[in-house]
Amino acid sequence: MTKRIGVLTGGGDCPGLNAVIRGLLYKATKKYGYEVVGIKYGWKGMVKNITVDINLENTEDIVREGGTILKSSRTNPYKIEGGVDAVVKTMQDLKLDALVAIGGEDTCGVASKLYKDRGINVIGVPKTIDNDLSGTDVTFGFDTCVNIATEMIDNLHTTAKSHERVLVCEVMGRHAGWIASYSGIAGNADYILVPEEEVDVDELCKVVKEAYKCQEYAIVVCAEGAKLAGEDITKDAELDAFGHVKLGGIGERLAKIIEEKTGCETRSTVLGHIQRGGRPSAYDRVLGTRLGTKAADMIANGDWGKMAAINGTQTVAVPLEVAVGSLKTLDLSIHEDSKFFFGANKLAAKV
Ligand code: F6P
Repeated sequence: MTKRIGVLTGGGDCPGLNAVIRGLLYKATKKYGYEVVGIKYGWKGMVKNITVDINLENTEDIVREGGTILKSSRTNPYKIEGGVDAVVKTMQDLKLDALVAIGGEDTCGVASKLYKDRGINVIGVPKTIDNDLSGTDVTFGFDTCVNIATEMIDNLHTTAKSHERVLVCEVMGRHAGWIASYSGIAGNADYILVPEEEVDVDELCKVVKEAYKCQEYAIVVCAEGAKLAGEDITKDAELDAFGHVKLGGIGERLAKIIEEKTGCETRSTVLGHIQRGGRPSAYDRVLGTRLGTKAADMIANGDWGKMAAINGTQTVAVPLEVAVGSLKTLDLSIHEDSKFFFGANKLAAKV
């Protein structure tokens, strides 16, 4: 009998999701003869049995498109009364033999639990612009996001220079500073703040002041999850279904502190969802395609409870438990290297 596979995308969207969906659909259909059913709105679609028709025709060109044709939500079936039973029922009602969950720590975390608690044949595919999932060298979406952020930081340089200002650029990165570090290095920032390292405000202001003295402007890149005096800067007290606070505002807070302590005119810019939207980079299109085709192979192998991942140039299957067990935070040796280019350090190289 033909196998039926469900596929969903959960959590924040991310460039490259459509490449995964197409990769999975094409290989599952053409090589293995499976039927693929699109589940709309992430786990919400499994709780409420909401599907969308996806086929070789309507996915043929989606590799180039950002976002997700399946739409997404941050629904957590474990936080809804009867939610997990409803997911099991939808599996039965749709006669699904397997489910591919494309998502980050939250979506893959639910997949991992459903496999362990309910024996559902799940396969995960890692997604997040934050690049903080373990078990894989990199997540798709990160490259596109860093390219966008870098271009935006390039733009900030010219306006900062013209007005002789300090500009603080707040980028995403809830628990990990991958985006801030990579876009900060590529964008030649004078200071980079990441959640993994305690912020020394006096040191930051000293570096910014020195940089400003030499260049007549300065650029600071800051991860939204960086902490001031050990605390998260949040928009409000509300938590989402996975218990996350809504971060945001550290850029503005820092700008005020910098202006006060250095006397330099300082403004802030929040890149926000601009860095998560738009067309995927070529790298993310290829990575997404390969992870999607790997997921089809994993179904054929019965690799349940595992996640498609990238290791060097090879796609591999790793246990979902490993992927969601701990976050992959920024390798601090990268951050240390970036410090040679902070503020006056960079300028001292001229001497
Ligand atoms: O997907 C991860 C992420 O991009 C985080 O970096 C960020 O904090 C969060 O999503 C924002 O999510 P939302 O769009 O739901 O506010």
